[in-house]
Amino acid sequence: MKSIFYMHPFLYEFGIRFLYFDGLSILKDIIGKQKEVFEPACGYGRVKKFIYSCCKYSGIDLNERFIRYGRKKKRDIYVGNILDIKQYKNSDVIILSDILHHLTIKDVKKLVSIAVQYAREKIVIVEPEFVTAAGKKNIFSRLLGKFMSVTDFDGINEIEKWLSKKEYESLFQELKDSHHNIEKLKIKRFRKHYFVEMFVNG
Ligand SMILES: C[S@@+](CC[C@H](N)C(=O)[O-])C[C@H]1O[C@@H](n2cnc3c(N)ncnc32)[C@H](O)[C@@H]1O
Repeated sequence: MKSIFYMHPFLYEFGIRFLYFDGLSILKDIIGKQKEVFEPACGYGRVKKFIYSCCKYSGIDLNERFIRYGRKKKRDIYVGNILDIKQYKNSDVIILSDILHHLTIKDVKKLVSIAVQYAREKIVIVEPEFVTAAGKKNIFSRLLGKFMSVTDFDGINEIEKWLSKKEYESLFQELKDSHHNIEKLKIKRFRKHYFVEMFVNG
């Protein structure tokens, strides 16, 4: 059964505000103005309020309740599977926010290899850094990982493994190295999040 946070979008919104505050505020600088932004796994479209209002934002997600909740807030979001290439559209920026840790490494690679075909400028990955606490090799981390796998179960993906900082950083590098059209990688840390920019060479 999916976690209560994924059943009730208002609970998710409340929880995430409590956890992250304005942790995504750096997105304005990273994305810039007048951009077309597409978000696979958009939830209810939380990211929209962290980017400039002159950007054109849209997204897809499989959680129908989240989509209904976001659409009531006038967000241009639809039900769709992020691993289905037919659901994508060309955009200046494709943002992957808070989704990588939900997926298997195989699906992360598939997701990025789809996104790279549709991003005109860059892919931006946002991952909460605190989840790496569950990627350490001690009893406390294992227990934390088990707890987080239940509370963060989206009803779609079983969380396979929590990554450590080192594993995240080598995953980002591997994603870059395995796509010849990703020409540059920039990793920033801001308010306990990774912000990874993968610049795409048109
Ligand atoms: C932690 S939430 C992040 C939501 C949003 N990106 C944000 O930052 O607020 C992860 C989202 O991924 C969605 N998701 C997971 N696997 C998916 C898939 N295969 N296709 C579409 N959405 C998916 C879930 O429904 C959930 O809304």
